[in-house]
Amino acid sequence: EAESWLPSLVTETPQAGFALAVTLSQKGVATTQTDGEVRQALRPEYAEDPDSLIAVSQVIATHFQTVAAANDYWRD
Ligand code: HEM
Repeated sequence: EAESWLPSLVTETPQAGFALAVTLSQKGVATTQTDGEVRQALRPEYAEDPDSLIAVSQVIATHFQTVAAANDYWRD
């Protein structure tokens, strides 16, 4: 089997956790639209549409909640 792209939800810092949330969000898109050329073609559309960008931000925020919980909110 190929190396896992998601070995752990645990991250060093909140910022790294946010980056992971972005990766999880993009993975959802790439899983549902597997054709990279189609994704390339659609990129300019969502990139300049404020409602799409808000929707994207919301998906990231949802994943960030999960990642933060998995890291116990990076409490010491
Ligand atoms: C680029 C996030 C949805 C296609 C990017 C970038 C981010 C990002 C941060 C710029 C940085 C980078 O290249 O890594 C997201 C998130 C999404 C989302 C969080 C949804 C929650 C989509 C959708 C499509 C798409 C729906 C198309 C169907 C692309 C493509 C690029 C890109 C093709 C590369 C653009 C380039 O550099 O040429 N996305 N995206 N993304 N996104 Fe998305």
